[in-house]
Amino acid sequence: MEEGSFLTLHSRSSTLVIELRGPQAPDAAPLWRYWGPRLPDGVVPGGPITETRPPQPSSFDIDTPLSIAPAFGVGWTGGSALLAHRDGLDFAQRFDRCDVRRHAGDHRVTFVLTDTVACLQLSITITIDPARDVFSLRCTLTNTGDAPLQVQWLAAGTLPLPGGFDHLRSTAGRWSSEMQPQIERLSRSTWLRENRSGRTSHESFPGAIVGDEGSTRLYGAHLAWSGNHRQVIEALDDGTRQWQLGEWLAPGEVRLPPGQALQSPELLAACSTEGLDGLAHAFHDALRQRLPWPGGAMHERPVHLNTWEAVYFDHRRDNLESLALAAADLGVERFVLDDGWFHGRSDDQRALGDWWPDETKYPDGLAPLAGFVNSLGMEFGLWVEPEMVSPDSDLYRAHPDWALQIEGRPLVTFRHQLVLDVARPEVADHLFALLDARLRETPIAYLKWDMNRDLSTAARAGMPAYREQVHALYALLDRVRQAHPAVEIESCASGGARIDFGVLAHTHRVWTSDCNDALSRVTIQRELLQWFPPEVMGAHVGPYPAHTTGRGQMLAFRCAVALPGHFGVEADPRAMSDAERAELRAWIALHKRLRHLLHSGRVWRGDAGDGIVWQAHGDDAARELVLFVYRIDATQQRHAPLVRLPMLDARKTYRLQRMAPVAPAAHSFAVASPLATAMREGGAPFDGAWLARGGLPLPRMAAESAIVIRLVAQA
Ligand code: DGJ
Repeated sequence: MEEGSFLTLHSRSSTLVIELRGPQAPDAAPLWRYWGPRLPDGVVPGGPITETRPPQPSSFDIDTPLSIAPAFGVGWTGGSALLAHRDGLDFAQRFDRCDVRRHAGDHRVTFVLTDTVACLQLSITITIDPARDVFSLRCTLTNTGDAPLQVQWLAAGTLPLPGGFDHLRSTAGRWSSEMQPQIERLSRSTWLRENRSGRTSHESFPGAIVGDEGSTRLYGAHLAWSGNHRQVIEALDDGTRQWQLGEWLAPGEVRLPPGQALQSPELLAACSTEGLDGLAHAFHDALRQRLPWPGGAMHERPVHLNTWEAVYFDHRRDNLESLALAAADLGVERFVLDDGWFHGRSDDQRALGDWWPDETKYPDGLAPLAGFVNSLGMEFGLWVEPEMVSPDSDLYRAHPDWALQIEGRPLVTFRHQLVLDVARPEVADHLFALLDARLRETPIAYLKWDMNRDLSTAARAGMPAYREQVHALYALLDRVRQAHPAVEIESCASGGARIDFGVLAHTHRVWTSDCNDALSRVTIQRELLQWFPPEVMGAHVGPYPAHTTGRGQMLAFRCAVALPGHFGVEADPRAMSDAERAELRAWIALHKRLRHLLHSGRVWRGDAGDGIVWQAHGDDAARELVLFVYRIDATQQRHAPLVRLPMLDARKTYRLQRMAPVAPAAHSFAVASPLATAMREGGAPFDGAWLARGGLPLPRMAAESAIVIRLVAQA
């Protein structure tokens, strides 16, 4: 809606107010006036911003408030949305013109900014849906000059943060320890996170959340991109901050020829007044709109067994068939054959690139095993790592030049492997042909698409090729999906090094982490749920002890931690006792009963203190929920804290049912407790208001144990 010189855009829960500038303005780029909780229709700022800010000593004589495209050189000394030059010339930008284009019917506005001196055009598109919370920004830079433009930085968007918002939550990590929350206080120094690993990375998730001291108002932003990225928050001279996200570009990576355009990835953002869970819901909703499900809609997530930690490279046919039998007996619905199946792959030091079945392990190809798996009522899935090549492989011996490399520099291996230059048409064609052949000759329902190294020497003809590699990956994924539209694809990268909205526009789930230690997983998964809905979060029951940490937990805890996600088994059931197998079978059956609820509505998370964290999945109105209470540490109190569930409807009563596939341990539910009484058949329901404000009393719980409770509001 345009009100005089203001453009007001509403999402479901927030409003953007942008001030359009008149012809006399020193810069035509529209100004940010507001991003915050939804304003009533028709509310506009008192007047142009420059009329509300008196001149100040020791300042430029023109006022330069934050615009949607702040640009270096002509009165703006803050961070620029664009850093570009032509061999040292045209390094300063200032826009002479702004055309506002509306795209009727699809909630889009594009601001076309023209700089006739620097000879460039910047188009900023905001897509905002009044029925959804998340809006997106995307920027396209066009070189309108007659010499190439060197681009050092192009922000996907510049967002305004109000004064006082200095509590920052970002995400750090490492292999097997992804999604570790990092809480900081912003100051007048610039906050900067740069990822130069060439993939989304374990270390630096492309997104962050900013809040203030006391309110539940939070701002979240995420870059939908699976490569190098840069996030920067900078203090401005009026006490506010600007927030930019974009691709990190290697020196010389973008040299834009005349007439050509560079498009940024999409920046997704939301403001919520409902705290972290409100923000999480906004992003879940946005992703659910975007996921490219085969057939147009998600079908219930099949329970997986992934062979990796059960057999590693031991792909003897009888070994795999007996594993498949054990999986089917548990109720597994999809059997995924991990690394080790292809020509010459006896360990992780060789053979990547040779994507045909190993002749000694699979003399008749993969079809017999896939057929056997299908005959047991399970789908067959296959692991691949198409972007990679091992120096010890037929492919590398035939085409050493296909590996990304910088001429005159050593090739740097990582997990003994190199990266193929997938942007080269002959490489992409070769990879597609191999994948296509496997998908045609074998009934494969699912690809686990792995990527086990950082990029380093990613250059072609001496020029950096990081971003092109990401675009080439997306194109290859799309080509495979177009040829085999029923096949689902998982984005895996040494566990969770490629988890973002960019790759999830081409895939259907992520492998959260190689860490299947349930205790570590509680943190990893809770943080992943901040951005991604549970149905895309691969969560498997691992072995005892966990292979990555050496630590072990009871089976019930491992199952309860994996239960809310896209559930599976990452262990060898044949190594379990009969009692454990029976228990795992019962948890799988429970998951199947609950998955419609776990994978559709909202997620709420809380920390009750004394080592208790909880997570609930339910419908939007919180009428029916599954509550997971995890005791992650031994109690330090005589009595456990009450678990407050503020999302419950205070006007309703709730009937509680314990979801325990096996008899509760003697030290917990057997002990009389109000909860145990309430959960007995016919027990009195709990008041929603009490559970929301007083709290749920817990039974005695051992460290590293969980309880799962179904809550249903009474009419
Ligand atoms: C890394 C993945 O995260 C694992 O699950 C497994 O597939 C291995 N790669 C296989 O090499």
